[in-house]
Amino acid sequence: MRNISSNFPVDKFKGIQTPFYYYNTDLLKATLSAINTEVSKYDNYHVHYAVKANTNPTILGIIKDAGLGADCVSGGEIEAALKAGFAPEKIVFAGVGKSDWEITLALEAGISCFNVESIPELENINEIAKGMNKIASIALRINPNVDAHTHSYITTGLSENKFGIDISLVDKVLDKLSELKNVKLNGLHFHFGSQITDMDSFRSLAIRVNEIQELFYRRMIIVESINVGGGLGIDYQNPDKNAIPTFHEYFETFRKHLALRPIQQLHFELGRSVVCQCGSLISKVLYVKEGIDKKFVILDAGMTELIRPALYQAYHKIENITADSSKKDIYDVVGPICESSDCFGKAIELPETKRGDIFAIRSAGAYGEIMASQYNCRRLPKSYFSDTI
Ligand code: LLP
Repeated sequence: MRNISSNFPVDKFKGIQTPFYYYNTDLLKATLSAINTEVSKYDNYHVHYAVKANTNPTILGIIKDAGLGADCVSGGEIEAALKAGFAPEKIVFAGVGKSDWEITLALEAGISCFNVESIPELENINEIAKGMNKIASIALRINPNVDAHTHSYITTGLSENKFGIDISLVDKVLDKLSELKNVKLNGLHFHFGSQITDMDSFRSLAIRVNEIQELFYRRMIIVESINVGGGLGIDYQNPDKNAIPTFHEYFETFRKHLALRPIQQLHFELGRSVVCQCGSLISKVLYVKEGIDKKFVILDAGMTELIRPALYQAYHKIENITADSSKKDIYDVVGPICESSDCFGKAIELPETKRGDIFAIRSAGAYGEIMASQYNCRRLPKSYFSDTI
């Protein structure tokens, strides 16, 4: 992990209407370069950026320039990736419920692979591809039934989740595949959750993938690519100290434990670990309100700009970046939305805070701006970048 200071241009912030997202593009580029340095150590490793984490066009452009592919989960994301300049052959399309128009759009664009999650979806892709006189390249998303030990809302690889095809159904799927002429199996896909920081979990996934590969091998099937999804977590507690995630350990875990056959490529779909630390939500203090036995800092940003604390009880480090007092106090930091869950943090120790101070809510580059909503008729937040602000 490397230390890159957040170094906010506070004077420039003072002239901008809050709340807004601020992206440190140097940090994003350093993160991408760390990924590329690690990936270049292996001949057959490829990273597709999970576009769902952040679809801001400037961010997408920087990621495309670094040479990553794009992992999309909707027609809209495929359009955003194409617009940002990702080559269609570097785009994969995943998702448990793909609509006909999205499948058609993906086939027209010539994307490289559909990650398929059920037999009816397989039949539908085959049907649409047939009508377009095309052959769709597909990977089967297998539910590995491995616990990622993360928040239950972002665990996807257990049998009880809606994602992927259960291993007990694989024979049925392969029989079906042999009947369908407009789909071609080229990969197996696994993704078991997000914000995973314990490498043992990835080791368990790798071992499970080996077992599942054996089942296919027994049916004389060796696919071209194995895709282990995304999920690498970041350090929300120490965004400056650990600004760049442990990519080395992550890729090495797969090298050590995942047995690839000689022709096979290993694909990764990293989202959060690419973009999370480069983004902060910048907000102004509207009021400091005295409660009975606590004080509230009321920000002009709320769950409409960053929903993660309300939705997953997620922790984001909160900083007063314009404080001029050395005294400390304890505050609940809340937003202006009419919901009790609109709270960024309870009993947070901060420098003594006053109306007009500027706050940075850190590690908000992933699943922040893209999950913003207009609830309460709020305006969507704008974004600014360290190199152009
Ligand atoms: N591949 C697939 C199939 C996925 O479902 C996801 C994330 C990723 C890759 C990227 O995972 P990452 O590397 O970002 O962990 N909104 C939640 C996170 C939802 C993740 C959904 N799937 C949050 O704010 O924590």
